[in-house]
Amino acid sequence: MTKRISLTQYLIEQQRGEAQIPSQLRLLIEVVARACKRIAINVSKGALGEVLGSAGSENVQGEVQKKLDIIANEVLIEANEWGGHLAGMASEEMDDMVGVPNRYPQGEYLLLFDPLDGSSNIDINVSIGTIFSVLKHKGGDVTNESFLQPGTAQVCAGYCVYGPQTTLVLTVGKGVVMFTLDREMGAWWMTEDNMRIPEDTKEFSINMSNMRHWAPPVKRYIDECLAGKEGPRGKDFNMRWVAAMVADVHRILTRGGIFMYPWDKREPGKPGKLRLMYEANPMSFLVEQAGGMATNGLQRIMEIQPTQLHERVAVVLGSKSEVERVTAYHREVQ
Ligand code: F6P
Repeated sequence: MTKRISLTQYLIEQQRGEAQIPSQLRLLIEVVARACKRIAINVSKGALGEVLGSAGSENVQGEVQKKLDIIANEVLIEANEWGGHLAGMASEEMDDMVGVPNRYPQGEYLLLFDPLDGSSNIDINVSIGTIFSVLKHKGGDVTNESFLQPGTAQVCAGYCVYGPQTTLVLTVGKGVVMFTLDREMGAWWMTEDNMRIPEDTKEFSINMSNMRHWAPPVKRYIDECLAGKEGPRGKDFNMRWVAAMVADVHRILTRGGIFMYPWDKREPGKPGKLRLMYEANPMSFLVEQAGGMATNGLQRIMEIQPTQLHERVAVVLGSKSEVERVTAYHREVQ
């Protein structure tokens, strides 16, 4: 029988070993993983748990909240507020950050999350997930500004995919590891100890229905992929779009590819659709740690200095040589 490493064992080894993660960070990751288990249980109950459908409210970005968005947000807050490891939390589903209630000790870390990514997939029983990012609090009162640190300041990032399997993928800055949830035992077991994204790919992921709104460099790249063997790339490409970033990025971490949610003309004033702090930054950290690359078309995403908690950003990430190509196409027209 394969001898597997549990999440706890892995984290204790990271605490003792090269990564030397502090015990508060270890606790934080364990608590987030436990919260993801609770979210997974809610997700799997579907209509039987009365968790499907809209909650009848909107979040700060004007998106309709699903019941599961709210449940997952509450699960993450409740799980994290009392352990003494956090200074504050911020979520896609809340206008402003929340501090740790006074009755609990305050820790050193800031946790950001998208509690339920890919909400449009909830009611149709397709993969969704939770994305999280961890920063260090620099001291003083915790405010929204405390979170405005570039992605390079992240000390941990990860996501959980609620799909046919429930998988937790994380980095503490020493590569990327994957754990799979054993539902009977309620335990996370390591199933990949060093995820690597192949440099080259033949698979792209973009919402093609927006093609007419794209900027010329994005259109050029996709046109060349679509031209296949007969075109300038000299090979046929495949396309995949799950419509949940977490699932699309998971595929890329597993078998390579490029994922894009670029700026487009529908809302020219916005840099993109996805959120920098709790979607693009954690995914960029994971992708880079797995040997891939992540830019906004021009600049490394992790080097962007955020100015707002819910800031949006254009995203191009995945296999290195493809992201380099898209970025070069953007730079040529600058
Ligand atoms: O968070 C936004 C999100 O749901 C992502 O997970 C996903 O990649 C994207 O939106 C899907 O967008 P669209 O509705 O354009 O397919």
